[in-house]
Amino acid sequence: MNTEQGPGSAPLSAATLERFAREVAKYPAGQQQSAVMACLAIVQHEEGFVSVKREREVAEYLGMAPIAVHEVTTFYNMYNQRPVGRFKLNVCTNLPCQLRDGQHALHHLEKKLGIQMGETTADGLFTLQQSECLGACADSPVMLVNDRTMCSFMSDDKLDQLVDGLRASVEGSAS
Ligand code: FES
Repeated sequence: MNTEQGPGSAPLSAATLERFAREVAKYPAGQQQSAVMACLAIVQHEEGFVSVKREREVAEYLGMAPIAVHEVTTFYNMYNQRPVGRFKLNVCTNLPCQLRDGQHALHHLEKKLGIQMGETTADGLFTLQQSECLGACADSPVMLVNDRTMCSFMSDDKLDQLVDGLRASVEGSAS
């Protein structure tokens, strides 16, 4: 999909710029760059992801180099650089999780969803993404659902229940 088209192709709206200004106002004069994460979060909240075009616009608004904004969006998993499914599954692939069957859990998920890491299911429901340590090594293996809900001690049964439950929640709300 061309991410330069669709919801992010028009210029930033006056309402969005107003929200940016409110974030910038939280910092001392000349420190507007400190609002970069908040501005990117606003874009993502409104459009579902942060395109390169939007990165450039945020950079221009805050007086930053576009590469500096790109570094932020690529460092933090919470920013989507392209459209994602309704449920974003960030699977931790760091060592402690790997030592506790994280690879098996990932393969189970890939098989159940019929996609590979980095892909989105054809129905647009699930996106599988790699994540660095999620700070819950004691509960490994883990993954984060939609940047908010931690799924700990992932077993095949637990993953099946989670995926089936999320699917059912969508089907239930559609009927
Ligand atoms: Fe997976 Fe820390 S290594 S949560």
